[in-house]
Amino acid sequence: MEYPIPKGVFDILPEEPQKEDAWRNSNHWQYLEGVIRELAREYGYREIRTPIFERTELFVRSVGESSDIVSKEMYTFNDKAERSLTLRPEGTAPVIRSFVEKQLHTQRPVQKFFYIGPMFRYERPQAGRYRQHHQFGAEAIGVCSAEQDVELIDLLTELYRRLGLKNLKVALNTVGDANTRAQYREALQTHFQQYLPRLSSDSQARFSRNIMRILDSKAPEDQEAIAAAPSILDFLSSEARAHFEKVCALLTTIGLDWEVSPRLVRGLDYYNHTVFEISSSQLGAQNALGGGGRYDGLIATLGGPDLPSVGFATGLERVLQAMEKQGMQFPPDPRPFIYFIPLGDRAREECMKWTTALRHVHIPAEIDLSGKKIQTCLQTANLLHTVFCLVLGEDELRSGQAQLKEMDTHHSKQIALDDLVGHIIRSYQRKITP
Ligand code: HAM
Repeated sequence: MEYPIPKGVFDILPEEPQKEDAWRNSNHWQYLEGVIRELAREYGYREIRTPIFERTELFVRSVGESSDIVSKEMYTFNDKAERSLTLRPEGTAPVIRSFVEKQLHTQRPVQKFFYIGPMFRYERPQAGRYRQHHQFGAEAIGVCSAEQDVELIDLLTELYRRLGLKNLKVALNTVGDANTRAQYREALQTHFQQYLPRLSSDSQARFSRNIMRILDSKAPEDQEAIAAAPSILDFLSSEARAHFEKVCALLTTIGLDWEVSPRLVRGLDYYNHTVFEISSSQLGAQNALGGGGRYDGLIATLGGPDLPSVGFATGLERVLQAMEKQGMQFPPDPRPFIYFIPLGDRAREECMKWTTALRHVHIPAEIDLSGKKIQTCLQTANLLHTVFCLVLGEDELRSGQAQLKEMDTHHSKQIALDDLVGHIIRSYQRKITP
């Protein structure tokens, strides 16, 4: 192949030749996106679409210079006017940029947005990790109470429930307020100092740049030090503790299963208070289906009013893979109601007329324009699982009659061509309202 697809990205096709790649079937994506849109509407989240690229500075400021995303994973380039732009690696910063720029707080006191779209991270590709992935994200701006955090955790778990996902783990933690984190970082410095020469090179770099991120390391040589590290829960200010306890109590009230995970810190620097991650035991190393948390300072950092926010994002590839692994059945591909096979020019003109008339009244009709032999056309009709099939040749045109074949029953019925469209419309109506 002279022009292969770049590494770490993939096509989403209406038909996926390899069974193990069935999660890339575009019908599965449409189904998932439909469930998401309905859910978001019911929870009062409205769609926001931001550009695929933003000024690089936006992500540096919000996600954090020392985060993996900003320090190693961004697709950054200069445009022709030498402005530094970056393909968005995540969706929160662009939503907040738009919120601040358009002064959306003046429209309503609480804004709830959702988005679905591609994100770009230059990561080492592997199963569940891509250089272009897709997220469904939701952000609620303007409410600082624990109920808002719980609404978002419930929204995400309800999505997974509606999709039939099982064996999920909801991990919950708090990263407290600025005071909490300052004290916690000091304790981590003392703790990790003694392990420093034995830590992975990534964690050694994190020691001075962003020490809490060591807790996120998966390197085997870091695990002993991480297991022995102090817990942030012992450093919470009274305000941070009260918020966290309220979130825990509310989650129990609404009947959700969750567990506290004191080492959960998340990879983006904008979080404070609640953080959460939902993982699936169906996925391998990349088992995080979705995650999020509160990020109260971000709007002010980006030049807007001092408003609190909380949100999450979930990776659509991983959701579809988990569904596939569980053997979930997706709705079947849409099938034509009638498939016309014209033989010859005159027949083709007639069939074209009927196909168009039926499509104009919302009946899925298909015409075989391949010009292939009748056997091949019939094979296509079978492949598409059409409900009816009609072959039109010179004989049928001459007699004004044709055989309408019902494919499931193999039953054929003689139909007068001048009533064909009317007949199909009546059958279709009977089928959808029996
Ligand atoms: P994140 O944890 O970086 O959070 O990404 C959210 C989800 O996107 C992950 O749980 C994972 O399912 C998926 N994901 C991330 N990177 C990849 C990748 N390379 N390949 C495949 N899937 C991936 C955020 O992006 C935050 N903006 C979430 C948020 C919204 N926090 C507050 N509001």
